[in-house]
Amino acid sequence: MALAKHKPLFITFEGIDGCGKSTQAVMTFQYLQAHGYKVKLLREPGSTIVSEKIRDILLDKKTKISDITELLLYEAARSEITAQEIQPALKSGTIVLCDRFYDSTTAYQGFGRKLDIRMVKSLHKVAALGIVPDLTFVFDIDLPTAFSRRGKKTDRLESQSKAFFQRVRAGFMEIARKERRRVKRIDAAQPIDKVFDDIKKYLSKKIKL
Ligand code: TMP
Repeated sequence: MALAKHKPLFITFEGIDGCGKSTQAVMTFQYLQAHGYKVKLLREPGSTIVSEKIRDILLDKKTKISDITELLLYEAARSEITAQEIQPALKSGTIVLCDRFYDSTTAYQGFGRKLDIRMVKSLHKVAALGIVPDLTFVFDIDLPTAFSRRGKKTDRLESQSKAFFQRVRAGFMEIARKERRRVKRIDAAQPIDKVFDDIKKYLSKKIKL
């Protein structure tokens, strides 16, 4: 299948744990590949050796981490994946899909941990090398449904309180409200195929499908 011409495209998938974003990221990856696009699927934190090691530290329930250290570790993991994977891939014309990016830090560390939002956002610019996603999906879902979708064994972040996740969810909604052009709210309580129909609708506005 001939490759359609397109500008570099960076798409991120966001939402609280259990919202179903990872499944949708994989479906999007397969869909775009089937349409002949060169696509890369990454996850944050992760997708490089250093970033995966940082992920292990961050998610380990036995580790006690201060809020600022947590913030800096997420940004450090981001700086690594951006320099090693995202920037080179975008330069080579690959469509980059990332399961979480800096909106997660705004929502979890900014709103969830109640850190200063301006300070948090200023770190994104450094870590993300000024790269801004072209399109971001925020998968919105009520907490009971999200919690029921998670496995029984929770990691350090997943074991935070209900109030924490309420703030994180509200944080994602505020991001979506403030950046309407870039960030699209998706109703993640719908069946998987319906959720994916919504994604395809937004994708078709960016690239030829
Ligand atoms: P994942 O389970 O979606 O792979 O993400 C790992 C966990 O890290 C998840 O609970 C969300 C959290 N997280 C943050 O708190 N801040 C961030 O910046 C990122 C990328 C993830």
